[in-house]
Amino acid sequence: MRTLIVAAALAAIALSTGPATAQSPIVIKFSHVVANDTPKGKGALKFKELAEQYTGGKVKVEVYPNSTLYKDKEEIEALQLGSVQMLAPSTAKFAPLGVKEFEALDLPWLFKDEATYAAAMKGEVGKWLFNKLEAKGVTGLAYWDNGFHMTSANRPLINPTDFQGLKIRISGSKIADRYFRDLGSIPQIMAFSEVYQALQTGVVDGCENTPSNYYTQKFFEVQKDITVSYHAHLQYAVIVNTKFWKGLPEDVRNQLTKAMDEATDYTNSIASKENEDALAAIKASGKTNLHYLTDEQKAAWQKAMQPTYKWAKSRVGGEVLDLLAKELHVAM
Ligand code: LMR
Repeated sequence: MRTLIVAAALAAIALSTGPATAQSPIVIKFSHVVANDTPKGKGALKFKELAEQYTGGKVKVEVYPNSTLYKDKEEIEALQLGSVQMLAPSTAKFAPLGVKEFEALDLPWLFKDEATYAAAMKGEVGKWLFNKLEAKGVTGLAYWDNGFHMTSANRPLINPTDFQGLKIRISGSKIADRYFRDLGSIPQIMAFSEVYQALQTGVVDGCENTPSNYYTQKFFEVQKDITVSYHAHLQYAVIVNTKFWKGLPEDVRNQLTKAMDEATDYTNSIASKENEDALAAIKASGKTNLHYLTDEQKAAWQKAMQPTYKWAKSRVGGEVLDLLAKELHVAM
């Protein structure tokens, strides 16, 4: 009798889990807002390729680029609700999640160059920021690079006074809001997918972004003047829904971690070149004027934006600023 019951129980388990697991892979919906042909877009596709390979098809990654599934704010809500499993938003967009500390990374001229940025994020501050996400049901897996912001309008932006009165689209960070206000402009948060039209129709006068985003979204076609200012850095955090991530079988999670680590190295290794190529293509198009700041002009921008540093503490708190100061060997 006992054997019979055990056999029946085993058969029931086989019926309920066996064929289903064999046939239905675990699906990871990976939503993002940029084009495939950008550092993040290519990184997402690389992760898909490696994840599917390393898990032997147990996992299927569906990449949704260009806001085709969700726009900026919605995608973060969707991740928390479990409607998508993976995102890579700019860290400037994390305040709605209740983690304003990430905005410290948007401070103007915080990172001297790419190498300084990369080294800093590998240190304590990168891990500390990811710890902050855990309480929100979100796990940080990696930081992906997309270089430095340029800024643009339909007039040359050379001196701080040139920004006076301009409506500038920003992606979400109050730090960016603040430094554009320091320059006398009027910042406005807007979803990435709406920027091209807003620039074209004059809803906003200007924006900031990296060359790869200017190029693939065609912002350069609707902005007469772009200043290659590289005044702030754009980085992403690849994040997952914690419940989903922790609920994965351990072997699968390990394979996905390996895929993510390799996709991260790949993305970060191509970011600079992708942006250089995009800038060259923008230049070659002849559709906009590129401006470069002299040392003196750059110093004037830095001076004008300096109040943001004083103000930042009230927004992001002293702890993250201290961690950054330590990592970068600077006083803040
Ligand atoms: C933006 O909204 O400007 C950027 O965050 C878009 C992106 O993801 O690169």
